[in-house]
Amino acid sequence: MSNDIKKTFHITTFGCQMNEHDSEIMAGMLVKAGYKPVSEKKEAGIVIMNTCSIRENADKRFFGTLGQLKRRKENGENFIMCVCGCMPQQQHIIDTIKGKYPWVDLIFGTHNIHEFPRLLENCINEQRKIIDVWPEGGEVPEGMPCKRLYKHKSYVNIMYGCNNFCTYCIVPYTRGRERSRKPEEIVKEVQALARDGVKEIMLLGQNVNSYKGRNDGADHDTTFAELLCMLDRVDGIERIRFMTSHPKDLSPELIKAFGTCKHLCHQIHLPVQSGSSRVLKRMNRHYDRERYLALIGSLRKAVPDICITTDIIVGFPGETEADFEDTLSLCREVGYDSAFTFLYSVRKGTPAAGFEDQVPEETKHERFNRLVDVINEGSARRNAEYVGRTMDVLIECEAKRERGDGLDKPGPGQVTLSGRTDGFKLVNLAGPKELIGQIVPVKIISSNTFSLVGKLIN
Ligand code: 5AD
Ligand code: SF4
Repeated sequence: MSNDIKKTFHITTFGCQMNEHDSEIMAGMLVKAGYKPVSEKKEAGIVIMNTCSIRENADKRFFGTLGQLKRRKENGENFIMCVCGCMPQQQHIIDTIKGKYPWVDLIFGTHNIHEFPRLLENCINEQRKIIDVWPEGGEVPEGMPCKRLYKHKSYVNIMYGCNNFCTYCIVPYTRGRERSRKPEEIVKEVQALARDGVKEIMLLGQNVNSYKGRNDGADHDTTFAELLCMLDRVDGIERIRFMTSHPKDLSPELIKAFGTCKHLCHQIHLPVQSGSSRVLKRMNRHYDRERYLALIGSLRKAVPDICITTDIIVGFPGETEADFEDTLSLCREVGYDSAFTFLYSVRKGTPAAGFEDQVPEETKHERFNRLVDVINEGSARRNAEYVGRTMDVLIECEAKRERGDGLDKPGPGQVTLSGRTDGFKLVNLAGPKELIGQIVPVKIISSNTFSLVGKLIN
């Protein structure tokens, strides 16, 4: 490494929205320090990998990408290789990087992102390798810059970490204990975003329902529902979403907030993980099938048009065919709008990694395919209900993939656009690029399993 490093950077982000947002923050810091983003790693003076540990394939993809960069370092190319995010929070991963990829220049973790500019500067000026990973988070850092992916929508962290220790999950070990931001800091950030043209905010936390913010001088905690009401009053913010909610903490007060907060989108991501009470107990989820279904009932009663999505793990240790069928029947009963489905992946250091009744890979795959069929069938059915209706759609970008019966070919001055309904349904339609960032009424003319096709109404 020499210190005449190009003032350009490239970030590869693995994993969840938290990581995506952390990458936006790192990009903001680098831009502030005079670096420019580039779309190709080979043009970057600073190459960053923001890693995820949630499942084994995330680990594999990271090591695969790192392996590809090895030749460039060996050829003497001059760039700073940084690794951050969830993987370095585990000692065995740091040991592997040190042993097999000793050319990595800077390693830091999830708790000291705010230190990134200083660490990078030291790494470049002193021409030395730096490994600085904190075992726990300190004070919640505020005022970090951010280079947003979208002009009109933004992630907003409201809390960090997780106290739940689901037995399969690595997150409490990589992201530490729960720490909530102060409500006034969040409101200040959202007001600034609104001034900057943001219309939609997505509040982020591993378990937003256990948010416990404390106002300076207040003698009680601000609940998540209270925070939503505070943000609902910020001028210019038209849509508020949040993720992720833990069913055990979903309060009646929050369900009520869907009725009282005008800008709260009628959408909730409520991970169920399994439809079997026996499996849920071994997962340490603190609710059973009946309680989950009762929550769904209350949500639908209070907000009849709510869109509900979920996460499901198949092949958790000890899952029998009967347990799995409970998951299938729960999915049919709830009628999810969509679901993220995962094969159980052993995570070193978690309790479930030590469970002896691991499910054979073949069984996991077979169940996974059956589950996906049930979920897709449900999504297609739910989407079909929108045909003929007119929905407000926030136009987000040019469509990445264009498909669907009846999708108009873009006319002169038009492109195929993608947007989202209040319930977070993806809608493709032909229209002028200038609509990006605006909320417009769209007539839904056909539906697919994963998206809707619309037409602008004039
Ligand atoms: N194996 C498979 N899926 C997992 N998830 C978390 N840990 C694991 C694991 N070890 C899933 C859960 C969670 C989502 C973010 O990832 O469904 O809700
Ligand atoms: Fe992981 Fe459970 Fe915490 Fe979610 S609630 S991050 S699944 S431990």
